[in-house]
Amino acid sequence: MISQELNDSLTRVGKGTDAGEVLRRYWQPAALSDELQNGRPVVPVRLLGEDLVLFRDTAGQLGLIGRRCPHRGVDLCYGRLEDNGLRCPFHGWHFNRSGQCVEQPGEPEGSRMHEQIQTPAYPVVEKNGIIWAYMGPGDPPAFADFDCFRAPDTHVFAFKGLWECNWLQALEVGIDPAHASFLHRFLQDEDPDDSYGKQFRDKAANTEIPMTRLLREYPRPDIQVEEMEYGLKLTALRYLDDGRTHVRVTNQIFPEAICIPMSREMTITQWHVPIDDENCYWYSMFTSFDKPVNKELMREQRLQEHSLPDYAPLKNARNNYGYDPSEQAKLTYTGMGLDINVHDQWAVESMGGIQDRTQEHLGKTDIGIIRYRRMLRSAIAALKDGRETDLPMKNGCDPRQIQGPISNDSLAENGALEEATLTSDAARRAACPWDARL
Ligand code: FES
Ligand SMILES: [Fe+2]
Repeated sequence: MISQELNDSLTRVGKGTDAGEVLRRYWQPAALSDELQNGRPVVPVRLLGEDLVLFRDTAGQLGLIGRRCPHRGVDLCYGRLEDNGLRCPFHGWHFNRSGQCVEQPGEPEGSRMHEQIQTPAYPVVEKNGIIWAYMGPGDPPAFADFDCFRAPDTHVFAFKGLWECNWLQALEVGIDPAHASFLHRFLQDEDPDDSYGKQFRDKAANTEIPMTRLLREYPRPDIQVEEMEYGLKLTALRYLDDGRTHVRVTNQIFPEAICIPMSREMTITQWHVPIDDENCYWYSMFTSFDKPVNKELMREQRLQEHSLPDYAPLKNARNNYGYDPSEQAKLTYTGMGLDINVHDQWAVESMGGIQDRTQEHLGKTDIGIIRYRRMLRSAIAALKDGRETDLPMKNGCDPRQIQGPISNDSLAENGALEEATLTSDAARRAACPWDARL
């Protein structure tokens, strides 16, 4: 349990809030590139409680500026995309990508009033299917050399989905390796050869054991957590009856991402991005270490479960997440279908808009959550003391030197756990068309 005051400090994201200021020191996913692929590349973005409008101007450059026109407050999402900026349809004020008002065509000839009018604007860059925004002070940090950024565009598929809850509880499900044995339990195994684009359906680490069976039969992982320069490395060990150990390494990337193995050839790097205090998006970069990703198939699989333009899941609290008690008896642990995203969504949304952590009881398997909160508290304290350089990936290290992180499943025959992970990672990278550097 934690105090209400601490829960507020760790969860709330508006400008000037504790966690909100930490999050503003890092690049945030603002939209998918897909969202601007229509005839009119202008979309609303609500990020960290701020209402913004994202657009691609006539020169192909991206801009992210305040959504309300500073004249009378109308919605600039309906703006005219012209003259390398956005023009308000109400009285024609024109804003460039930096948020500067450059023209007020109705004001008297020669008026210089526009020079004083500036709307909020944030730097944006596009990387492998996601448009990223930096909403903090000063210059944006460099991007780390993570696999999801290094891989060519052909090998990364990006998608997102809406969860109606606070970002922290969304993140915390990703640093809780124990839940997969229950929440995502399948009472029968599917054919692992039919696993493309799906999580936990492959065979476990070069064995003939389907992941679904391994998770079901070994539900008490031994979880180890190590602090890294990018965040946390979580190692979940499952001791098999035959003496071997299944090793699953996942990572928390500070402040709000995780990197997990999805299958033998793919990892998922997933950000839990606050829309505001009680809503968030997950943004995932599915990164292939093998063939190019089949983006059409992966998009189609996911669009069957989501509605546009909000990427809102079709299964949600309004329809009980598709809950079916007979399915729960026979097929899945939740009774909510085979899509594990729905399971996670139910878990985090059913806690309420912001989980009441004054009433929780953490156990030993919650070690990742405990360590992460400690790290976030230190970052908040550092920022308050003016020690921004103490934050992860700002503490003297050059983010461009941070690689990986290694996220995979492996099988240790002889207790050499670390070695099994490294060998498995090296084999994957050696066979990878864009990453044969080991
Ligand atoms: S409200 Fe935008 S120009 Fe008047
Ligand atoms: Fe999960």
